[in-house]
Amino acid sequence: MKMFRKLTTSAAVALALTAGHVNAAEVEVEIEDYAFSFEGPFGSFDQMQLQRGLQVYTEICSACHGLEHVAFRNLHDEGGPALPEDQMRAYAEFYEVFDPTLFDGEGDFRPATPADKFPAVTSANAPDLSLMAKARAGFHGPYGTGISQFVNGMGGAEYIASLLTGYHEEPECALEGEPMDGYYNVAFANGGFPESCKDDHGKHKVPGSWIGMAPPLYGDDVEFADGHSTDLEDVAMDVSAFLMWTAEPKMMARKQAGLTGVLFLTVLSVLLYLTNKRIWAPHKHKKD
Ligand code: HEC
Repeated sequence: MKMFRKLTTSAAVALALTAGHVNAAEVEVEIEDYAFSFEGPFGSFDQMQLQRGLQVYTEICSACHGLEHVAFRNLHDEGGPALPEDQMRAYAEFYEVFDPTLFDGEGDFRPATPADKFPAVTSANAPDLSLMAKARAGFHGPYGTGISQFVNGMGGAEYIASLLTGYHEEPECALEGEPMDGYYNVAFANGGFPESCKDDHGKHKVPGSWIGMAPPLYGDDVEFADGHSTDLEDVAMDVSAFLMWTAEPKMMARKQAGLTGVLFLTVLSVLLYLTNKRIWAPHKHKKD
């Protein structure tokens, strides 16, 4: 199922094109080319995987990250997690949202309804995840250019899964220098980096950098009702697929429209060819 082509993408190439950001240019990151069900022109979201991913988000990531752009009713959408309506309603009620119209305009909290969006989470200083899979499609944080996605067919879902599985022991060179804030992660490009891991020319000797997020997953963090594997890599893929859906809920419709278009144009070309032949046929074999 999974493909483990290890890819070391050098941000230097991507950054050479954007100019500036000289320091970040030396960061190498390791992104695994995971095989997701939604890749390719015929790919589609795996409903069960999206439901597992929603569970991982709910039980773990939602403690720090919001999903401000996603409405609860979308969890019922065909092509998405497609929770049955009653489950979607029950899920929404489990959240509290602030309603400014309540209490004579003073506002108060009430249980969420399907029309509400996931509440924002600000306490942990963690970014909202609704659009993260699109924002990181080029891997290199805000500086990404999308070259990896273009060349390798890899995108934000691969990046997020690699980030969640990219925590490693600090490299030797880091232990020699000042202690670092944060956690060493080989997929993260935009974090702190110790001087002791740079060579004389300022080039980074190890991939990745230090991120402010503690490892949120270790494997066996959740229990799935469908009995699916809870290995770190599988759980990371599930939540990454879910975040791909939150960022691009209409991906399937877009692909389908594209395919219909191609099919339509193919049929049209054949018809035009035949018409053309027919129109010119009387003239073709005329001698004089
Ligand atoms: C304890 C709080 C906490 C939890 C739990 C948590 N995160 Fe984070 N996350 C953070 C913080 C803080 C940052 C910002 C880190 C930084 O920029 O150095 C972050 C950043 C991120 C980023 C952005 C990385 C980038 O390229 O800028 C992603 C993606 C992410 N988290 C995904 C997840 C997922 C998926 C989960 C659940 C499996 C999760 N997080 C659980 C605190 C958390």
